[in-house]
Formats: sequence, C-alpha cells, structure tokens
Amino acid sequence: MSTAPQSLSTAHEGLLSERAAGIKQSAVRDVFELSLDPSLVSLAGGNPYLQLLPLEKIGAISQRIITEQGPEALQYGSGLGTEQLRTQILDVMAAEGITNVKLEDVVVTNGSQSAQDMACKVFCDPGDTVLCEDPTYVGALNTFEAYQVKAREVSTDDHGLIPEALQARITQLRAAGERIKFLYTIPNFNNPSGITLATERREEIVKICREEGILILEDNPYGMLRYEGEAAPTLRSLDPENVIYMGSFSKIFAPGLRIGWAAVPTHLFRRFYLAGEAVALCPPTLNQMIISAYLQEHDWKSQITKYNDLYRSRRDAMLDALEKHLPVEVSYTRPEGGFFIWLTLPQGIDTYELLQLGVKAGVIFIPGAAFSPSGQADNKLRLAFCAVDEATIAEGVQRLSALLATAIEANAS
Ligand SMILES: Cc1ncc(COP(=O)(O)O)c(C=O)c1O
Repeated sequence: MSTAPQSLSTAHEGLLSERAAGIKQSAVRDVFELSLDPSLVSLAGGNPYLQLLPLEKIGAISQRIITEQGPEALQYGSGLGTEQLRTQILDVMAAEGITNVKLEDVVVTNGSQSAQDMACKVFCDPGDTVLCEDPTYVGALNTFEAYQVKAREVSTDDHGLIPEALQARITQLRAAGERIKFLYTIPNFNNPSGITLATERREEIVKICREEGILILEDNPYGMLRYEGEAAPTLRSLDPENVIYMGSFSKIFAPGLRIGWAAVPTHLFRRFYLAGEAVALCPPTLNQMIISAYLQEHDWKSQITKYNDLYRSRRDAMLDALEKHLPVEVSYTRPEGGFFIWLTLPQGIDTYELLQLGVKAGVIFIPGAAFSPSGQADNKLRLAFCAVDEATIAEGVQRLSALLATAIEANAS
C-alpha cells in the first residue's frame, strides 16, 4: 500500500517514462502468488525440481568458498564473469554440440533474462521490430515492451518456425517500413509450446536471417533437458557470426543463483558486454564460484541424466492423463523435452476467465494470452509438468479436464 499523499502519487505518475508506463506484471507472476496455496494443484509454474540436487554437497561447497575464499567471493568481480566459469561454460556448450565458441566470446550474465535485456539495449531503438514465435517466452515479451520494441510473430507449426513464413514476414514488414533488428527464438522445447524447431529447417532459418541482415537471438535454457529423440544442431553452431546464443544454469542447476551466459559474435562482443556492465557491474562472484565448484566436483552430466529421467516420467504422466481425461475438442503438444505442454481449446473460450474457475476447482495453469505477441492465444493455455509428482499431475489434469468439459459445453450452447 502506498503511503504517499494522493497529490504526490499523481505528480509521480506524471514523471514516469513512457517505457515504465508500458511495463506490467506478467500473468506468470500473478499466478505465482496463487500457486502458494497448498490446496491447489499448480500446473502453472515452470520451476525446476531442485529437491533432486545434492543440496548437502552444495551447502558444503558454499561454506567452504566463503570461509576459505571469502574476500574474493564477496568482492566485485569482472563484468565478463570469472575466467574459470567462462572456461567451464565452453564445456557445457560442448556437451550440447557447440564447439565453435572462443573464451573471448563468452560473457556471464544475470540469467539469460538479462542477456535478452542487453541485446535489446544494444540493438533496439523505440519503434524497432523484432521477430519471434507465437507463442513465445513471456519474459522476452516483457523486455521487448520495456524497450518499446514491436514484437512481430512469425508463423509456426508443430515443427517450429516455418522458413517460408519467415521470409514472407520480413518482406511484408519491410514493405510497411518496419526496421527489423533480430529474430528471437527458442528452438528447443519452446516455453510455452514445448515445440522444437525441426533439424532440416535450422539451416534455412539461419540462411534467411543472414541474407536479410537480421541477427538471431537463440535462447536455449532447456536444450539439455531432452527426454527422447536426437538433439538438433544449435543455430549458433550453424552460424557463429550472426547468432547470439543465450544459455542458462537456471534449468540445469539452480535459477536462484541467477547465472546465465551469452556467446556473442566476436565483432559485437565489446558492445554487448559493456551494456551488461552498465546495469549490474558484474554477475555475482559468489554464485559463479559455487557453480564452478559444482561443475568441477559433482558429476553434473549424470545429474542432468537424473533430471531427465524424472522429468520424462512426469511428462509421460501428464500426457497419459491428458489422453485419458481431456475432452476430444482440446488438442495439445507432445514435447520431446523441456517443461511445458500447450493446450488449444475451441475458439470462444477465454482461458483467463477459465483460470478464475480453475482456482475454485483447485487447479491452476497459465492463460495463453500472456505468451502471445499477436494476442491470438485467448483459447490456449500452458501446463508445466516439471514441478509436481506424477500423482499430483494426474489429479490436476482430472480437475482441469472436468473444468474444460463444462466450459466447452457452455461455449457450444
Ligand atoms: C525461454 C526462456 N528464456 C529465458 C528464461 C529465463 O532464464 P534465466 O533464469 O536464465 O534468466 C526462461 C525462464 O523460464 C525461459 O523459459
């Protein structure tokens, strides 16, 4: 509750930048508050299941770092990140098949979220255009909005971005006088759709962007969380000069540490990292040291395998429950990895309104509109299978299915 007198609060409203006036709390945040109610089944949050981490070991590592290297760990550090972690990030990327990045091209960031912010700061003026999938990550849409950038959707299907649609969209937007700066894409297990860009489309997407003079911002926090199928090459490995790659420890280790990174084409690197330094001075030294020790002292690849086993069985539990209980009018994606399944309901059902009924019925999800640059996703919703166990998933899907059946019947009449 504000304690400022009414007149002062009105005066301050008048001081707000145009940018700030456009910033709003995301629906994911709204629902986050609700998800704390233990009587509800939350299929909303994309929180990694941290109970599976070797917490005692991480506790011992943290204590050791502070007692033995406290003055360094608690000090300001380089804006680039520690050299040790940047070197280890090369190994993490190599595990994803990215072997064409040099140490000098890696900057540690405050999560991949801040790398998105840095990219906007470096490349976008108000009124510029960026291209993206529809649906796409709500945090990126919020960043675009904060920089007063137009987020324009490119058509997708079950195999991700459609290259011909990308080409046509670029031509159309340019004819309308728009200045396109980059394509923001989540090629692996998109948040929220769970869809992965088909291998054979990747070369084409990269080629179109390069020829059209449009950068690619490749956001890949879920790439290593694959439960079936073959990994496709990252866009960065296909075109190191035209792709800024964003990685994160949030989903493969711990989001609370707020550590991610960007691999930036050499000729853009200085500008990119200076933009980050201007916001945060440096990524947190202690957290980088904890991650470095974790990567060094723990078998982190086996840990990811453990995670993948757990998430696979949760995904399967959700797909089974959807198959069994969902009304036939509802379609859904079948992700090979990541955290999310995307449901499409008949036209005319607004999932934002449905969420209020969901709270009463004891199940919550994220309404689709939050993720849609075009505003065409009112009849869609996102479910997350990462954070709760199989029995809870089954219960949540049953509650949701009953709710959807009622809504579909009401919508048809
Ligand atoms: C696609 C995508 N990009 C970026 C982020 C943010 O990641 P980080 O915690 O590294 O900032 C998320 C988090 O959910 C995400 O889903």
